[in-house]
Amino acid sequence: RLAERAGLSVGRLRLGVVTTAKYLVPGMLGPFCKAHPRVEVEFQVGNRSEIRERLQANLDDLYVFSHPPHELDIEAEPLADNPLVVIAPSEHALAKRGALTWDDVAAERLLIREAGSGTRHAIERYLESRGWQAPHRITIASNEAIKEAVTAGLGLAILSRLTLRHMAPGNLVELPVEGFPIPNRWYVVTPRGKQLSPIAARFRQYMLEQRHGSAG
Ligand code: PGA
Repeated sequence: RLAERAGLSVGRLRLGVVTTAKYLVPGMLGPFCKAHPRVEVEFQVGNRSEIRERLQANLDDLYVFSHPPHELDIEAEPLADNPLVVIAPSEHALAKRGALTWDDVAAERLLIREAGSGTRHAIERYLESRGWQAPHRITIASNEAIKEAVTAGLGLAILSRLTLRHMAPGNLVELPVEGFPIPNRWYVVTPRGKQLSPIAARFRQYMLEQRHGSAG
């Protein structure tokens, strides 16, 4: 009751998260909304450039990015590790071999997210830092469609490991490729100095209390 009067457990909570974080944040929203049943949540999901636009237009209370747009005036707190892994259909020839190298992967078609995706940005930066190429590419603008396409045998992909967690077991496997996973991490982002509503400040704190991995 006291908390309610102080505005701590009522009101609207507007979140803008990148597509990989939609596999992370709902698991935190569940218990939080149970404890604060009168909070109305608006949960927006988009790729990095879409969520960056929402941030720039100040449309949401809190944001989750894995590559915070540091060219804007923001505060970014590490939230959780978001390793990017190479995936293949379980019946693929490479899935039956032991240790693999990038050359094994590069000989296959690689399904990769659209321009504007933080996942794509992270992959490109990493390949470039290693001097590795991905000559046979197909662009697909959704994590879900990429998983479907990999399952159907269209090629391999590099995706956030967390996007795999509700896949039917046995459809897809993570390949043991030297140099992988690509280390990557999510951050809770707010415009610097933004006065958060009490409920937004509380959820931000709750998320940071749930931190795990080396972000914790
Ligand atoms: P995205 O999300 O690939 O959908 O942009 C992840 C990220 O920003 O790293």
